[in-house]
Amino acid sequence: MEDLSLHVLDIAQNSLRAGAKVISIEIRRLPGKDLLEIEVEDDGCGMDRDLLSKVTDPFFTTRKTRSVGLGLPLFKMAAEMTGGSFDISSTPGKGTRVKASFGFTHIDRPPLGSMSETIVTLIQGNPDVRIRYREVTENASFEFDTQEISQILQGVPLNEPEVLQWIKDHIDQCEQELLNNEHLL
Ligand SMILES: Nc1ncnc2c1ncn2[C@@H]1O[C@H](COP(=O)(O)OP(=O)(O)O)[C@@H](O)[C@H]1O
Ligand SMILES: [Mg+2]
Repeated sequence: MEDLSLHVLDIAQNSLRAGAKVISIEIRRLPGKDLLEIEVEDDGCGMDRDLLSKVTDPFFTTRKTRSVGLGLPLFKMAAEMTGGSFDISSTPGKGTRVKASFGFTHIDRPPLGSMSETIVTLIQGNPDVRIRYREVTENASFEFDTQEISQILQGVPLNEPEVLQWIKDHIDQCEQELLNNEHLL
């Protein structure tokens, strides 16, 4: 059972391979509805209908070399195993949106894991891609946007180790506050 944050990393790496310049990631914790929702949206090259119909087939890839990756089929399966659902929509030349929902309290729901590590890993290798991250609960939310950090840093690359550490701590802290607020911890 892989942490969901690793699935998110994998899905966002698809976005990077698709040439995305902006990737938006949202996590919605809705225990009142017994739902955990994850959405990843990008402005990459998108997929045509034919490709889109194949991508949740576990044996399909357009890659020549398959390295370690969880892929769309496994993400879909992880969601469906918890009574949740999976949806992918894509427009060639515009981008792609992947949405998965999980039964929040379902015994087979993997833990979310460290989203701060996923975000920092993405930024580390792709400091020029804009990453937007949002976490939502029933009554509160927080947002993180690398574009805002870049403006403050005035030319210091986002993948400087000190910056990455600050981003990680910042996201962890925002998440902690959000969950404390909601008595989810
Ligand atoms: N965000 C995306 N934008 C464009 N194409 C995508 C995106 N996500 C997935 N794809 C296409 O779907 C294929 C399958 O993705 P995936 O299941 O993650 O396996 P893999 O990344 O190992 O090929 C990719 O090879 C790619 O062609
Ligand atoms: Mg992949």
